Amino acid sequence: MKDVYIFAIESSCDETSASIIKNGEEEINTVILSQIDIHKKFGGVVPEIASRSHTENITIVIDECLKGANMKMEDMTAIAVTYGPGLAGALLIGVEAAKTLSLIYNKPLIAVNHIAGHIYANKLEHNLKFPLISLVISGGHTEIIYMEDDFSFKNIGGTLDDSVGEAYDKVARVIDVPYPGGPVIDKYAKKGKHTYNLPIPMDDESYNFSFSGIKSAVINLVHNEKQRGNEIDKYNLCTSFEDVVVEILTKKTMRAVKEYNVKQLLIAGGVSANSAIRERFSELCDKENVELLVPKLKYCTDNAAMIGSAAYKMYLKKQFASYDLRIMPTLELANKK
Ligand code: KG4
Ligand code: ZN
Repeated sequence: MKDVYIFAIESSCDETSASIIKNGEEEINTVILSQIDIHKKFGGVVPEIASRSHTENITIVIDECLKGANMKMEDMTAIAVTYGPGLAGALLIGVEAAKTLSLIYNKPLIAVNHIAGHIYANKLEHNLKFPLISLVISGGHTEIIYMEDDFSFKNIGGTLDDSVGEAYDKVARVIDVPYPGGPVIDKYAKKGKHTYNLPIPMDDESYNFSFSGIKSAVINLVHNEKQRGNEIDKYNLCTSFEDVVVEILTKKTMRAVKEYNVKQLLIAGGVSANSAIRERFSELCDKENVELLVPKLKYCTDNAAMIGSAAYKMYLKKQFASYDLRIMPTLELANKK
């Protein structure tokens, strides 16, 4: 078969990204323009500012990606884009750019689900062996997905309120760590001890999660200590918070791994960059003789390479989108069990 070059675009939140992926697994070039510094002063992503920034940068990012690869759009086999879930105004910019390129250069258009992208980030470095369980943990999602085959997604559980990334970012905010706080909590947690008593959220028989309670428990604790004039030990607080998060994520996910009798566990999404989560899953998977796949750090947070990786599977199945493709901000990966 002729080599397949997918030109992928991702703009669902606060990263404008383009990537060229050869035959589904070889990353030729990826450009990621992060808006983190712009949103930092607001303490989180401001949708209107995100979409304006995507508008300003999308053509630059596309151009840089082609130039860096020393390729032309004519060399591409297909154009892929994230069409949901995500921020409406942000998704629109990527989708309109992809449609335009597809029309002008007469290339098939592939509409990719952002969460499928996170899962297929793992395919850039590893072979997927089915059936498998995937834990998607990001700023927007916390889901346990069972996959019997490529692109067969069954949602067996997920958060009922906040995502785990949201909890990290809000806990960070209350101890004056700027957005996105997840990576900083990761570092602080390494320096502290588990001294604060926090509730283990939703420790039940389901595969669902709830992170709003622990987030509120941390916020209340900090406010109460401040009112009493006590100093919070932010390192100890981060260790205590992270221990509880790691405990509940690993407990439920490893139960699913056993119940569904899978040989591979995939972790994906921005929070999968967390070192404590990686280490604990690695220990538990070793013990259970399960292969753990975790993306390289650069493929954990939002990027277009993962979209190109997922799109390749769709290309092989000729799952192309038409020009009336619409953004789907609340798109789900799979129906709930
Ligand atoms: O996947 P992503 O880039 O965007 C969404 O699709 O939501 O994930 C961003 C989230 C943020 O909440 C950020 O704080 C979190 O991932 N994150 C981390 C770490 N690196 C990024 N959380 C904990 N530990 C990290 N090392
Ligand atoms: Zn994401």
